Amino acid sequence: MQVKIFPDHEALSSAAADIIIQLIRIKPAALLCFASGETPRRTCELLVEKSINENVDFSKCSFAGLDEWVGIPPTNDGSCHYFFQHLVLDTLQPQNAFLFNAISGDMEGECAKMDQFILQHGPIDLMMVGIGMNGHIGFNEPGVSVGLRSHVIDLDPTTLAVGQKYFKKKAPIRQGITLGLSYLQQSGVVLLLANGEKKSTVIHEAVEGPVTPQFPASIIQTHANSIVMIDKPAASQLKNN
Ligand code: F6R
Repeated sequence: MQVKIFPDHEALSSAAADIIIQLIRIKPAALLCFASGETPRRTCELLVEKSINENVDFSKCSFAGLDEWVGIPPTNDGSCHYFFQHLVLDTLQPQNAFLFNAISGDMEGECAKMDQFILQHGPIDLMMVGIGMNGHIGFNEPGVSVGLRSHVIDLDPTTLAVGQKYFKKKAPIRQGITLGLSYLQQSGVVLLLANGEKKSTVIHEAVEGPVTPQFPASIIQTHANSIVMIDKPAASQLKNN
């Protein structure tokens, strides 16, 4: 694990976009997996800008959406699907993509489809993830088994409360569907992004706390090729910064 500290969110987003572009130049048919949310939004925007300016072709790559709120339709602009569709798929136009369909009525089937997609196009070359206020990655909530592939999980009270920030009106969220941490362990590169003072406690815990399923993001410490990309405020509680 490396920790890289940037002056601000813009700088870390730009650096993350550069890493993704570098990978696509070396391996055009890479399998990418991104989280949605406030943190990676700017990276996705910059990825599009840079790929146009630098003539980078994403048309051979594949994309897997990290997670979704069970029961929330893709048309809801707070859904992960909406984010992935508008900020990644419409703009970068990868050859293959799979996003969980959270209203399919067969969540186990959706997990199986995702696992099959990754088997076919993977292993994942690069994951770009965020960190929740309870240390979750994707919807791998505290206490999750780290060996899981795609799975459905009851959301932790913190995620239920914080998650409402994505929705214009109160969303009936209860469960998430997500790639498991086994995929993170197997991914070629993992970028964990965080910005802002509000993330400083969870970044300290993830990077300098014990590695434990009670704090899922701590698994980042065990990945040989992970980069924790944070701005100065998010780094403010690190002892070794
Ligand atoms: C969303 C996801 C979540 C977020 C995390 C941080 O697809 O996987 O784990 O990455 O909750 O969210 P933001 O970036 O909105 O603070």
